[in-house]
Amino acid sequence: MTGGVAAYKSVELARRLRDAEASVTVIMTEASARFITPLSLETASQNRVYRSLFDDPMAHIALPSAADLLLVAPATANSIAKFANGIADDLLSTCFLAATGVRTLIAPAMNRRMYENPAFRRNLDSLRESGVLQVGPSQGFLACGEEGIGRMAEVPEIIEAAAAALTPKDLAGEKVLITAGPTREYIDPVRFISNRSSGKMGFALARAARNRGAEVTLVTGPTCLTPPPGVLCVSVETSDDMLFEVQNRAGIDATILVMAAAVADFGPECRADSKIDKTDLLTLTLKKTKDIVATIGGGGRRPFIVGFAAETGQNPDRAEQKMRSKGMDMIVFNDVTEPGSGFDTDTNRVVLIDRAGRHALELMSKDDVADAVFDRLREIKA
Ligand code: CTP
Repeated sequence: MTGGVAAYKSVELARRLRDAEASVTVIMTEASARFITPLSLETASQNRVYRSLFDDPMAHIALPSAADLLLVAPATANSIAKFANGIADDLLSTCFLAATGVRTLIAPAMNRRMYENPAFRRNLDSLRESGVLQVGPSQGFLACGEEGIGRMAEVPEIIEAAAAALTPKDLAGEKVLITAGPTREYIDPVRFISNRSSGKMGFALARAARNRGAEVTLVTGPTCLTPPPGVLCVSVETSDDMLFEVQNRAGIDATILVMAAAVADFGPECRADSKIDKTDLLTLTLKKTKDIVATIGGGGRRPFIVGFAAETGQNPDRAEQKMRSKGMDMIVFNDVTEPGSGFDTDTNRVVLIDRAGRHALELMSKDDVADAVFDRLREIKA
């Protein structure tokens, strides 16, 4: 931690990193201890806090050697200048200098004019060129009362960047196209047919693929979720829009297509141009939507295709049949009626089905399901 107003967020950051089962050791500069007490960080990290080069003579070598990640949050303009120029005049900057070969992530925080200052930009560019990763800053109200770029990234964003920094890049070179969320099939300009999909599974897949080094495009129906940073996010509404985007993008250069979207199976046969008047009884004729995954699966040059089968009931045979009939390489089966599985939950219990067999997984977070999908996919592709 270095000395900026954003230091207050670092207490929460240390706590959340521990929740994610990281072991956290905090190094505070003297300036950061003017903002937040070391006791708060000691409590949040459940670990000793280091402050001075002279507390422990070999800490500047021992601490970076034991670390998987060196995360500087907040990283002030002064600390970034020191890191970029090899200045080692306190414990943190000395650890930074000794941390060669350790993944390093900085979360800059400062006034917008400082952030835009050419001298600072040179330092930042030089750190980036030497492989230091950066998260944030974002736009918004700054502590000085001005508005602009310079706010330290929020804690969840920093945790996500830390997770990405620590993940082996075993999907590097892959171009992954993922669909997520529901689609809307319009009855008239204000009414539509949709389903309960939250998009959480598709977004978890996008984060996992990005963390593993893939270039990720996420084509998503309407959801309340924030697009993961570092992912190209394309918003669509109807199944026709989704088909158009997937066809264009899968056709160009996707190497993997993951169809996690709950595409509406039916839509109104015709969409009224103006709002339909209220009546006691209204009959709608629905017709099947075009099957996106089957369209891609039936094509000539096609990516590796993973589909999802959300079933009501334990019916993996039906899922396997869908995989074969739609030309997929793998299908993820889940029973949406099971507690903790399916729509709008953070967990899922799935069976991974491919042409070589089936793998039933325990109930786990959607993030872990996403990683399990890519682990299996790599085994099949190998
Ligand atoms: N899917 C698709 N286009 C559609 C409908 C579904 O690409 N119009 C994809 C889904 O994204 C999913 C897979 O097909 O990956 C299976 O979807 P599902 O709705 O479970 O299967 P259906 O074939 O529609 O069968 P049913 O509704 O009869 O269960």
